[in-house]
Amino acid sequence: MTAAPIRVLVLHGPNLNLLGTRDPAIYGTTTLAEIDAELHRRAAARGATVECVQSNHEGELVTLIQQARGRFDAILMNPAAYTHTSIALRDALEAVALPAVEVHLSNLHARESFRHVSLTAARCVGQISGFGAQSYFLGLDAALQTVEGLRRAQAPA
Ligand code: DQA
Repeated sequence: MTAAPIRVLVLHGPNLNLLGTRDPAIYGTTTLAEIDAELHRRAAARGATVECVQSNHEGELVTLIQQARGRFDAILMNPAAYTHTSIALRDALEAVALPAVEVHLSNLHARESFRHVSLTAARCVGQISGFGAQSYFLGLDAALQTVEGLRRAQAPA
């Protein structure tokens, strides 16, 4: 039997809609639309699908995570500044218990100390930080591998 396509919800947090012009020395010049297009392309090449959403609003991101249950197999997320502040996003990830991968364009640990702490990472399978747009593509790979591993573990012997 062919396995159902893996469905990944990609969430981009606040200010990531400005990628391309926002602090290019830190975040690069790739736009969010370009990142999303490449995620779609890479997912399709693996027989998977992605749905990409950007929001500047914490509550909207919480709702999107809640609604992901049953509709997606994994979440790939750059919570942006909410990484460092949002207990609500952390609780939503914990509540839905979907495998999640946290990504950041910049290397959080090479920046201001307030960026060294992620409230959300502990509720993710892992975190990828510092590879620019490539962080998302490595993150997609990690999310797909995680779901494939879970499916293998759940498959009847
Ligand atoms: C970011 C890092 C965060 O500290 C920052 O607030 C962002 C982007 C990154 O992708 O490097 O908005 O998540």
